[in-house]
Amino acid sequence: MTIPVKSNTEYFIELEEQYGAHNYHPLPVVLEKGKGVFLWDVEGKRYYDFLSAYSAVNQGHCHPEIIEALQQQAVKLTLTSRAFHHNLLGEFEKYITKLFGYDKVLPMNTGVEGGETAIKLARRWAYKVKGVEKDKAVVVFVEGNFWGRTMAAISSSTDPSSYEGFGPFMPGFKLVPYNDLTALEEVFKQDSNIAAFMFEPIQGEAGVVVPDEGYLRGVRALCSRYQVLMIADEVQTGLCRTGKMLACDHEAVKPDLLVLGKALSGGVMPVSVVLANDEVMLTIKPGEHGSTYGGNPLACAVAMAALKVLQDEQLAANAKRMGEIFRERMQAIKSDLITNVRGKGLLNAIVIKPFGENKTAYDVCMALKENGLLAKQTHRDIIRFAPPLVINEKQMHEACNIISETILSIA
Ligand SMILES: Cc1ncc(COP(=O)(O)O)c(C=O)c1O
Repeated sequence: MTIPVKSNTEYFIELEEQYGAHNYHPLPVVLEKGKGVFLWDVEGKRYYDFLSAYSAVNQGHCHPEIIEALQQQAVKLTLTSRAFHHNLLGEFEKYITKLFGYDKVLPMNTGVEGGETAIKLARRWAYKVKGVEKDKAVVVFVEGNFWGRTMAAISSSTDPSSYEGFGPFMPGFKLVPYNDLTALEEVFKQDSNIAAFMFEPIQGEAGVVVPDEGYLRGVRALCSRYQVLMIADEVQTGLCRTGKMLACDHEAVKPDLLVLGKALSGGVMPVSVVLANDEVMLTIKPGEHGSTYGGNPLACAVAMAALKVLQDEQLAANAKRMGEIFRERMQAIKSDLITNVRGKGLLNAIVIKPFGENKTAYDVCMALKENGLLAKQTHRDIIRFAPPLVINEKQMHEACNIISETILSIA
């Protein structure tokens, strides 16, 4: 009699299933190693990573310079809290404010904390500077937005799987359609209590929704005209992902508040920031906002190294070039399964028509996994493709071959 032996993969998945909360539905692959654009699972199989941890690993897995900075700082000093000063915070603050052209920065940890911080700053600015009556400030968001999972983030969400069953929700939020300047102006005209408009320059989780050319400039103009703060959530689109340092750079637009996260640490640890000028940033006084880990020495060392890699390796230019190859290759696939290819730089998506017996984008991702490429569906019909920005031309063609052969074999 043979006793069935569980594979490593099954063992680790069952362990998670039994002891972990069931708040995710990952593809059934268990990863244990990453280098550059590649990941390896516990069976030793190698994959192209075409998710990059939702654009956090722009610099590639375990980038040697970022890991070097992490290791050097990890044995020296990791956390002081903000009860005391440390020798890297000011240096990091100078570096990042000079790089993006703002007076000040407020460091946090996760992307969603960056968004929360931006909203608190905007509300405070509305009361102190704009003159909005106490507790009447309004923040406008767009339909299909995604900026995380906190109560404030889900209170602005239009996706029932984010908010259903978690009420009551945060007041003071309004929604407008994305990519619609007329609707935005209408809401600005009607309500003089609006503190800010917060949006993604390209909507990531919504399925890589790229607005029309001119939308960013239009938003900038309307925010200035109606004295509303423009908050760009570039947690996913920022840091070279779309072929420029910031997605707002495509239209040479400067938001009043810029939220960054994810790739700010190259996927090494949670680091986020809000950048703004003094008129906004100095409305929050000591003791009114913060985080134990925000701006810690390890994060400062890692974030400076991560930003330097983006610049030194000219990853924006590479993302632009590789993105063009990717979209060209996807458009050339002769299959009815693909109904749309869209994106900018290396933030791209293909839209998949339902096929077979109720098969969706998830099934395509499963087939891609079998063929050595990891990507994740968003909603039922969209697959996002966002490899690390260090991908070279040969690797891009090899990865496109995998995608193309997979799609053709399904079709
Ligand atoms: C645009 C955007 N903002 C904010 C967040 C939240 O970041 P985090 O998961 O680090 O809290 C995400 C996460 O996917 C995002 O895509």
